[in-house]
Amino acid sequence: MGFRILGLFFLLPFVLGLMNATVDGIDTNLSSGGPIWSTVKEEENLVPNDKQYNGDLDGGFSSLEGMLQWAISHADPAKLKETAEVRQQLSASELNKRQMELKELMEEIKVPSDAELMKIAISDLNNSSITLEDRLRVLQELNVLVEPIDNANDFNKLGGLVSVTRELYHPDPSIRTTAAWILGKVCQNNLVVQQQVLELGALPLLLKMVKPNFIEEANKALYAVSALIRNNLAGQELFSAEDGDLMVQNILRNSSIDIRLQKKALILLADLAQSQLENARRSELPFLSDRDLLKSVVDLIATSTDLDLQDKVLVAIKSLLQLKTTEALVLKDFCALGDALNKMKQLLLNVMVDEFQRDYAMDVESLRSEVEYIFHRKLLK
Ligand SMILES: *[C@@H]1O[C@H](CO)[C@@H](O)[C@H](O)[C@H]1NC(C)=O
Ligand SMILES: *[C@@H]1O[C@H](CO)[C@@H](O)[C@H](O)[C@H]1NC(C)=O
Ligand SMILES: *[C@@H]1O[C@H](CO)[C@@H](O)[C@H](O)[C@H]1NC(C)=O
Repeated sequence: MGFRILGLFFLLPFVLGLMNATVDGIDTNLSSGGPIWSTVKEEENLVPNDKQYNGDLDGGFSSLEGMLQWAISHADPAKLKETAEVRQQLSASELNKRQMELKELMEEIKVPSDAELMKIAISDLNNSSITLEDRLRVLQELNVLVEPIDNANDFNKLGGLVSVTRELYHPDPSIRTTAAWILGKVCQNNLVVQQQVLELGALPLLLKMVKPNFIEEANKALYAVSALIRNNLAGQELFSAEDGDLMVQNILRNSSIDIRLQKKALILLADLAQSQLENARRSELPFLSDRDLLKSVVDLIATSTDLDLQDKVLVAIKSLLQLKTTEALVLKDFCALGDALNKMKQLLLNVMVDEFQRDYAMDVESLRSEVEYIFHRKLLK
Protein backbone atom coordinates (compact mmCIF):
# COMPACT_ATOMS: atom_id res chain seq x y z
CA MET A 1 0.00 0.00 0.00
CA GLY A 2 3.01 2.23 -0.37
CA PHE A 3 2.99 3.56 3.13
CA ARG A 4 6.48 4.82 2.65
CA ILE A 5 5.42 6.60 -0.46
CA LEU A 6 2.47 8.12 1.35
CA GLY A 7 4.93 9.30 3.95
CA LEU A 8 6.92 11.08 1.29
CA PHE A 9 4.00 12.78 -0.29
CA PHE A 10 3.10 13.97 3.12
CA LEU A 11 6.55 15.48 3.50
CA LEU A 12 7.05 17.03 0.12
CA PRO A 13 4.61 19.92 0.41
CA PHE A 14 6.61 21.03 3.42
CA VAL A 15 9.87 20.89 1.55
CA LEU A 16 8.54 22.68 -1.47
CA GLY A 17 6.50 24.99 0.70
CA LEU A 18 9.65 26.14 2.36
CA MET A 19 11.27 26.73 -0.99
CA ASN A 20 8.28 28.85 -1.87
CA ALA A 21 8.59 30.74 1.32
CA THR A 22 11.92 32.04 0.15
CA VAL A 23 10.36 33.65 -2.88
CA ASP A 24 7.01 35.31 -2.89
CA GLY A 25 4.62 34.48 -5.63
CA ILE A 26 6.36 31.47 -7.05
CA ASP A 27 4.60 28.21 -6.61
CA THR A 28 6.50 25.08 -7.24
CA ASN A 29 4.37 22.26 -8.48
CA LEU A 30 5.29 18.69 -8.15
CA SER A 31 5.52 17.01 -11.48
CA SER A 32 4.16 13.53 -11.77
CA GLY A 33 5.99 10.48 -10.63
CA GLY A 34 7.47 9.45 -7.37
CA PRO A 35 9.84 6.93 -5.99
CA ILE A 36 8.96 3.65 -7.58
CA TRP A 37 8.30 0.90 -5.11
CA SER A 38 10.70 -1.69 -6.37
CA THR A 39 8.55 -4.74 -6.38
CA VAL A 40 9.83 -8.00 -7.67
CA LYS A 41 13.59 -8.10 -7.74
CA GLU A 42 14.67 -10.93 -9.91
CA GLU A 43 16.34 -14.05 -8.81
CA GLU A 44 17.08 -14.67 -5.26
CA ASN A 45 20.16 -16.72 -4.70
CA LEU A 46 21.70 -18.72 -1.99
CA VAL A 47 25.02 -17.00 -1.69
CA PRO A 48 25.51 -15.75 1.83
CA ASN A 49 23.54 -12.58 2.06
CA ASP A 50 25.85 -10.28 3.91
CA LYS A 51 24.96 -7.28 1.84
CA GLN A 52 23.55 -4.70 4.10
CA TYR A 53 20.49 -2.71 3.41
CA ASN A 54 20.83 -0.12 0.74
CA GLY A 55 18.48 2.71 1.50
CA ASP A 56 17.93 3.46 -2.17
CA LEU A 57 16.60 0.04 -3.02
CA ASP A 58 13.07 0.64 -2.00
CA GLY A 59 12.69 4.22 -3.03
CA GLY A 60 13.34 5.44 0.48
CA PHE A 61 15.80 8.19 1.22
CA SER A 62 18.78 7.65 3.39
CA SER A 63 19.48 11.30 3.85
CA LEU A 64 18.02 14.71 3.84
CA GLU A 65 20.13 15.52 0.79
CA GLY A 66 18.73 12.55 -1.07
CA MET A 67 15.22 13.68 -0.37
CA LEU A 68 15.93 17.23 -1.43
CA GLN A 69 17.53 16.08 -4.63
CA TRP A 70 14.54 14.00 -5.39
CA ALA A 71 12.21 16.89 -4.69
CA ILE A 72 14.24 19.19 -6.88
CA SER A 73 14.48 16.76 -9.75
CA HIS A 74 10.72 16.39 -9.75
CA ALA A 75 9.91 20.05 -9.65
CA ASP A 76 9.27 22.28 -12.65
CA PRO A 77 12.74 23.19 -14.04
CA ALA A 78 11.75 26.68 -15.20
CA LYS A 79 10.40 27.62 -11.82
CA LEU A 80 13.33 26.08 -10.05
CA LYS A 81 15.65 28.19 -12.13
CA GLU A 82 13.71 31.25 -11.18
CA THR A 83 13.84 30.15 -7.57
CA ALA A 84 17.55 29.66 -7.81
CA GLU A 85 18.00 33.16 -9.21
CA VAL A 86 16.01 34.66 -6.39
CA ARG A 87 17.94 32.50 -3.99
CA GLN A 88 21.19 33.95 -5.19
CA GLN A 89 19.90 37.32 -4.14
CA LEU A 90 19.33 36.12 -0.61
CA SER A 91 22.18 36.74 1.72
CA ALA A 92 24.21 33.81 2.90
CA SER A 93 22.89 34.13 6.42
CA GLU A 94 19.29 34.26 5.22
CA LEU A 95 19.86 31.17 3.15
CA ASN A 96 21.48 29.44 6.03
CA LYS A 97 18.58 30.28 8.29
CA ARG A 98 16.13 28.85 5.79
CA GLN A 99 18.13 25.67 5.55
CA MET A 100 18.21 25.27 9.30
CA GLU A 101 14.45 25.74 9.46
CA LEU A 102 13.97 23.14 6.80
CA LYS A 103 16.23 20.70 8.56
CA GLU A 104 14.44 21.13 11.88
CA LEU A 105 11.11 20.63 10.24
CA MET A 106 12.26 17.46 8.54
CA GLU A 107 13.48 16.07 11.79
CA GLU A 108 10.16 16.81 13.46
CA ILE A 109 8.16 14.99 10.84
CA LYS A 110 8.83 11.38 11.43
CA VAL A 111 9.23 9.09 8.44
CA PRO A 112 7.92 5.68 9.48
CA SER A 113 10.66 3.17 10.21
CA ASP A 114 10.89 -0.17 8.44
CA ALA A 115 9.68 -1.87 11.61
CA GLU A 116 6.59 0.34 11.66
CA LEU A 117 5.95 -0.38 8.00
CA MET A 118 6.29 -4.10 8.60
CA LYS A 119 3.89 -3.90 11.50
CA ILE A 120 1.28 -2.20 9.35
CA ALA A 121 1.81 -4.76 6.59
CA ILE A 122 1.52 -7.68 9.00
CA SER A 123 -1.67 -6.33 10.50
CA ASP A 124 -3.06 -5.96 6.98
CA LEU A 125 -2.17 -9.58 6.30
CA ASN A 126 -3.98 -10.55 9.48
CA ASN A 127 -7.07 -8.80 8.21
CA SER A 128 -9.10 -11.39 6.36
CA SER A 129 -11.27 -8.78 4.65
CA ILE A 130 -8.65 -7.07 2.51
CA THR A 131 -8.90 -7.75 -1.22
CA LEU A 132 -6.74 -10.29 -3.00
CA GLU A 133 -4.99 -7.48 -4.85
CA ASP A 134 -4.14 -5.68 -1.61
CA ARG A 135 -2.95 -8.89 -0.03
CA LEU A 136 -0.55 -9.50 -2.89
CA ARG A 137 0.70 -5.92 -2.72
CA VAL A 138 1.25 -6.15 1.02
CA LEU A 139 3.25 -9.34 0.55
CA GLN A 140 5.33 -7.71 -2.18
CA GLU A 141 6.11 -4.82 0.15
CA LEU A 142 7.10 -7.19 2.91
CA ASN A 143 9.30 -9.02 0.45
CA VAL A 144 11.30 -5.81 0.00
CA LEU A 145 11.19 -4.83 3.66
CA VAL A 146 12.63 -8.10 4.97
CA GLU A 147 15.74 -7.87 2.80
CA PRO A 148 18.12 -6.37 5.38
CA ILE A 149 19.13 -8.94 7.93
CA ASP A 150 18.10 -6.76 10.89
CA ASN A 151 14.65 -6.43 9.44
CA ALA A 152 14.42 -10.21 9.09
CA ASN A 153 14.91 -10.48 12.85
CA ASP A 154 12.37 -7.73 13.59
CA PHE A 155 9.95 -9.36 11.21
CA ASN A 156 10.02 -12.44 13.37
CA LYS A 157 9.49 -10.44 16.58
CA LEU A 158 6.48 -8.72 15.06
CA GLY A 159 4.77 -12.04 14.43
CA GLY A 160 5.39 -11.90 10.70
CA LEU A 161 6.47 -15.53 10.37
CA VAL A 162 3.11 -16.80 11.60
CA SER A 163 1.18 -14.51 9.30
CA VAL A 164 3.26 -15.24 6.22
CA THR A 165 3.40 -19.00 6.80
CA ARG A 166 -0.39 -18.94 6.99
CA GLU A 167 -0.42 -17.53 3.44
CA LEU A 168 1.08 -20.78 2.16
CA TYR A 169 -2.42 -22.23 2.49
CA HIS A 170 -3.95 -19.50 0.34
CA PRO A 171 -5.88 -20.74 -2.72
CA ASP A 172 -4.24 -18.15 -4.99
CA PRO A 173 -0.86 -19.27 -6.40
CA SER A 174 0.64 -15.75 -6.56
CA ILE A 175 -0.06 -15.28 -2.87
CA ARG A 176 1.54 -18.61 -2.00
CA THR A 177 4.48 -17.90 -4.29
CA THR A 178 5.25 -14.52 -2.73
CA ALA A 179 4.84 -15.92 0.78
CA ALA A 180 7.34 -18.70 -0.02
CA TRP A 181 9.75 -16.14 -1.40
CA ILE A 182 9.58 -14.07 1.79
CA LEU A 183 10.12 -17.13 3.97
CA GLY A 184 13.14 -18.10 1.86
CA LYS A 185 14.64 -14.65 2.30
CA VAL A 186 14.17 -14.42 6.05
CA CYS A 187 15.55 -17.94 6.58
CA GLN A 188 18.81 -17.32 4.78
CA ASN A 189 21.74 -17.78 7.12
CA ASN A 190 19.49 -17.27 10.11
CA LEU A 191 19.33 -20.30 12.35
CA VAL A 192 16.78 -18.77 14.73
CA VAL A 193 14.35 -17.92 11.97
CA GLN A 194 14.91 -21.31 10.27
CA GLN A 195 14.02 -23.02 13.53
CA GLN A 196 10.81 -21.06 13.96
CA VAL A 197 9.69 -21.56 10.39
CA LEU A 198 10.32 -25.30 10.81
CA GLU A 199 8.28 -25.29 14.01
CA LEU A 200 5.42 -23.58 12.20
CA GLY A 201 5.28 -26.59 9.90
CA ALA A 202 6.21 -24.74 6.71
CA LEU A 203 8.53 -27.39 5.26
CA PRO A 204 5.90 -29.98 4.24
CA LEU A 205 3.77 -27.20 2.74
CA LEU A 206 6.69 -25.85 0.75
CA LEU A 207 7.61 -29.32 -0.49
CA LYS A 208 4.08 -29.80 -1.78
CA MET A 209 4.36 -26.50 -3.62
CA VAL A 210 7.28 -27.75 -5.70
CA LYS A 211 5.07 -29.11 -8.46
CA PRO A 212 6.08 -28.95 -12.08
CA ASN A 213 2.78 -27.45 -13.25
CA PHE A 214 3.23 -24.08 -11.57
CA ILE A 215 6.76 -23.13 -12.42
CA GLU A 216 7.02 -19.83 -10.59
CA GLU A 217 5.51 -21.28 -7.46
CA ALA A 218 7.77 -24.32 -7.70
CA ASN A 219 10.85 -22.14 -8.12
CA LYS A 220 10.13 -19.95 -5.12
CA ALA A 221 9.08 -22.90 -2.99
CA LEU A 222 12.27 -24.78 -3.80
CA TYR A 223 14.26 -21.66 -3.05
CA ALA A 224 12.54 -21.48 0.35
CA VAL A 225 13.09 -25.18 1.05
CA SER A 226 16.82 -24.77 0.36
CA ALA A 227 17.11 -21.69 2.55
CA LEU A 228 15.19 -23.40 5.32
CA ILE A 229 17.39 -26.49 5.56
CA ARG A 230 20.74 -25.05 4.57
CA ASN A 231 23.27 -25.84 7.32
CA ASN A 232 20.37 -26.87 9.50
CA LEU A 233 20.63 -30.52 10.53
CA ALA A 234 17.16 -30.71 12.08
CA GLY A 235 15.69 -29.26 8.91
CA GLN A 236 17.63 -31.71 6.77
CA GLU A 237 16.32 -34.66 8.73
CA LEU A 238 12.79 -33.39 8.37
CA PHE A 239 13.39 -32.95 4.65
CA SER A 240 14.40 -36.59 4.50
CA ALA A 241 11.42 -37.72 6.57
CA GLU A 242 9.09 -35.79 4.26
CA ASP A 243 10.53 -37.53 1.17
CA GLY A 244 12.20 -34.41 -0.10
CA ASP A 245 14.59 -36.63 -2.03
CA LEU A 246 11.74 -37.93 -4.19
CA MET A 247 10.78 -34.36 -5.01
CA VAL A 248 14.39 -33.76 -6.09
CA GLN A 249 14.41 -36.89 -8.24
CA ASN A 250 11.15 -35.93 -9.93
CA ILE A 251 12.67 -32.62 -10.93
CA LEU A 252 15.94 -34.08 -12.15
CA ARG A 253 14.23 -36.78 -14.22
CA ASN A 254 11.69 -34.55 -15.91
CA SER A 255 13.25 -33.55 -19.21
CA SER A 256 10.57 -30.98 -20.03
CA ILE A 257 10.80 -29.12 -16.75
CA ASP A 258 12.19 -25.59 -16.31
CA ILE A 259 15.96 -25.85 -16.19
CA ARG A 260 16.12 -23.33 -13.32
CA LEU A 261 14.33 -25.85 -11.13
CA GLN A 262 16.86 -28.52 -12.04
CA LYS A 263 19.71 -26.21 -11.19
CA LYS A 264 18.16 -25.34 -7.85
CA ALA A 265 17.65 -29.03 -7.10
CA LEU A 266 21.31 -29.73 -7.90
CA ILE A 267 22.50 -26.91 -5.66
CA LEU A 268 20.32 -28.26 -2.89
CA LEU A 269 21.81 -31.75 -3.25
CA ALA A 270 25.35 -30.41 -3.32
CA ASP A 271 24.61 -28.36 -0.20
CA LEU A 272 23.19 -31.34 1.62
CA ALA A 273 26.17 -33.52 0.75
CA GLN A 274 28.57 -30.76 1.73
CA SER A 275 26.80 -30.31 5.01
CA GLN A 276 27.24 -34.03 5.70
CA LEU A 277 30.91 -33.85 4.84
CA GLU A 278 31.50 -30.85 7.04
CA ASN A 279 29.74 -32.35 9.98
CA ALA A 280 31.87 -35.46 9.68
CA ARG A 281 29.29 -37.73 11.12
CA ARG A 282 27.77 -40.95 9.94
CA SER A 283 25.36 -40.10 7.20
CA GLU A 284 21.92 -39.59 8.61
CA LEU A 285 20.66 -38.79 5.16
CA PRO A 286 21.00 -42.22 3.53
CA PHE A 287 19.14 -41.03 0.44
CA LEU A 288 22.22 -39.08 -0.62
CA SER A 289 23.85 -42.40 -1.51
CA ASP A 290 20.73 -43.88 -3.02
CA ARG A 291 21.46 -45.39 -6.43
CA ASP A 292 18.34 -43.99 -8.09
CA LEU A 293 19.07 -40.54 -6.86
CA LEU A 294 22.68 -40.76 -8.02
CA LYS A 295 21.56 -42.00 -11.40
CA SER A 296 19.11 -39.14 -11.81
CA VAL A 297 22.02 -36.72 -11.28
CA VAL A 298 24.43 -38.50 -13.64
CA ASP A 299 21.77 -38.91 -16.35
CA LEU A 300 21.36 -35.14 -16.55
CA ILE A 301 24.74 -34.92 -18.24
CA ALA A 302 23.35 -36.41 -21.43
CA THR A 303 20.20 -34.29 -21.52
CA SER A 304 21.53 -30.79 -21.88
CA THR A 305 24.29 -28.73 -23.45
CA ASP A 306 23.80 -25.94 -20.92
CA LEU A 307 27.24 -25.36 -19.40
CA ASP A 308 25.86 -23.96 -16.19
CA LEU A 309 23.78 -27.08 -15.69
CA GLN A 310 26.78 -29.30 -16.43
CA ASP A 311 28.79 -27.29 -13.94
CA LYS A 312 26.16 -27.76 -11.25
CA VAL A 313 25.92 -31.49 -11.98
CA LEU A 314 29.68 -31.74 -11.42
CA VAL A 315 29.57 -29.77 -8.19
CA ALA A 316 26.85 -32.10 -6.88
CA ILE A 317 28.64 -35.28 -7.98
CA LYS A 318 31.89 -34.08 -6.49
CA SER A 319 30.32 -33.77 -3.02
CA LEU A 320 28.18 -36.89 -3.31
CA LEU A 321 31.23 -38.92 -4.38
CA GLN A 322 33.07 -37.99 -1.23
CA LEU A 323 30.40 -39.32 1.12
CA LYS A 324 31.60 -42.52 2.78
CA THR A 325 28.30 -44.22 2.08
CA THR A 326 28.42 -43.57 -1.66
CA GLU A 327 29.74 -46.64 -3.45
CA ALA A 328 32.10 -46.18 -6.36
CA LEU A 329 30.86 -49.35 -8.03
CA VAL A 330 27.28 -48.13 -8.01
CA LEU A 331 28.43 -44.99 -9.78
CA LYS A 332 30.45 -47.01 -12.26
CA ASP A 333 28.03 -49.82 -13.10
CA PHE A 334 24.55 -48.61 -12.22
CA CYS A 335 25.00 -44.92 -13.09
CA ALA A 336 27.63 -45.28 -15.83
CA LEU A 337 29.47 -42.25 -14.49
CA GLY A 338 32.62 -43.06 -16.49
CA ASP A 339 30.78 -42.93 -19.82
CA ALA A 340 28.91 -39.81 -18.81
CA LEU A 341 32.13 -38.02 -17.91
CA ASN A 342 33.64 -39.00 -21.26
CA LYS A 343 30.60 -37.67 -23.10
CA MET A 344 30.83 -34.46 -21.16
CA LYS A 345 34.47 -34.09 -22.12
CA GLN A 346 33.49 -34.36 -25.78
CA LEU A 347 30.76 -31.77 -25.34
CA LEU A 348 33.17 -29.38 -23.62
CA LEU A 349 35.78 -29.80 -26.35
CA ASN A 350 33.15 -28.94 -28.95
CA VAL A 351 32.05 -25.89 -27.00
CA MET A 352 35.64 -24.66 -26.66
CA VAL A 353 35.70 -24.01 -30.40
CA ASP A 354 33.37 -21.10 -29.75
CA GLU A 355 35.63 -18.32 -28.53
CA PHE A 356 32.85 -16.71 -26.48
CA GLN A 357 32.34 -19.84 -24.45
CA ARG A 358 35.91 -21.08 -24.38
CA ASP A 359 36.93 -19.80 -20.95
CA TYR A 360 33.81 -21.07 -19.29
CA ALA A 361 34.11 -24.45 -20.99
CA MET A 362 37.71 -24.70 -19.81
CA ASP A 363 36.67 -24.01 -16.22
CA VAL A 364 34.02 -26.70 -16.41
CA GLU A 365 36.50 -29.09 -17.97
CA SER A 366 38.90 -28.54 -15.13
CA LEU A 367 36.17 -29.40 -12.62
CA ARG A 368 35.20 -32.39 -14.74
CA SER A 369 38.70 -33.84 -14.69
CA GLU A 370 38.88 -33.27 -10.94
CA VAL A 371 35.66 -35.25 -10.50
CA GLU A 372 37.05 -37.96 -12.76
CA TYR A 373 40.17 -38.14 -10.64
CA ILE A 374 38.22 -38.42 -7.36
CA PHE A 375 36.04 -41.08 -8.95
CA HIS A 376 39.01 -43.18 -10.13
CA ARG A 377 40.72 -42.91 -6.79
CA LYS A 378 37.56 -44.06 -5.06
CA LEU A 379 37.29 -47.00 -7.46
CA LEU A 380 40.80 -48.10 -6.55
CA LYS A 381 40.06 -48.20 -2.85
C1 LIG B 1 -0.92 -11.01 13.26
O1 LIG B 1 -1.31 -12.31 13.57
C2 LIG B 1 -0.28 -13.08 14.22
C3 LIG B 1 -0.78 -14.51 14.34
O2 LIG B 1 -2.14 -14.60 14.60
C4 LIG B 1 0.03 -12.45 15.56
O3 LIG B 1 1.06 -13.17 16.22
C5 LIG B 1 0.51 -11.03 15.33
O4 LIG B 1 0.76 -10.38 16.54
C6 LIG B 1 -0.51 -10.24 14.52
N1 LIG B 1 0.13 -8.99 14.20
C7 LIG B 1 -0.52 -7.88 13.99
C8 LIG B 1 0.32 -6.68 13.77
O5 LIG B 1 -1.72 -7.82 13.93
C1 LIG C 1 -9.75 -4.78 7.47
O1 LIG C 1 -9.88 -4.44 6.11
C2 LIG C 1 -11.11 -3.82 5.80
C3 LIG C 1 -11.18 -3.67 4.29
O2 LIG C 1 -10.05 -3.00 3.79
C4 LIG C 1 -11.20 -2.49 6.55
O3 LIG C 1 -12.43 -1.86 6.26
C5 LIG C 1 -11.10 -2.74 8.05
O4 LIG C 1 -11.04 -1.53 8.74
C6 LIG C 1 -9.80 -3.54 8.34
N1 LIG C 1 -9.81 -3.93 9.75
C7 LIG C 1 -8.80 -3.67 10.55
C8 LIG C 1 -8.92 -4.19 11.93
O5 LIG C 1 -7.82 -3.05 10.19
C1 LIG D 1 7.31 -32.54 -16.24
O1 LIG D 1 7.30 -31.12 -16.37
C2 LIG D 1 6.26 -30.64 -17.19
C3 LIG D 1 6.50 -29.15 -17.40
O2 LIG D 1 6.69 -28.46 -16.22
C4 LIG D 1 4.92 -30.95 -16.53
O3 LIG D 1 3.86 -30.47 -17.31
C5 LIG D 1 4.81 -32.46 -16.36
O4 LIG D 1 3.63 -32.75 -15.65
C6 LIG D 1 6.01 -33.00 -15.59
N1 LIG D 1 5.97 -34.45 -15.59
C7 LIG D 1 5.97 -35.19 -14.48
C8 LIG D 1 5.97 -36.66 -14.66
O5 LIG D 1 5.98 -34.68 -13.37
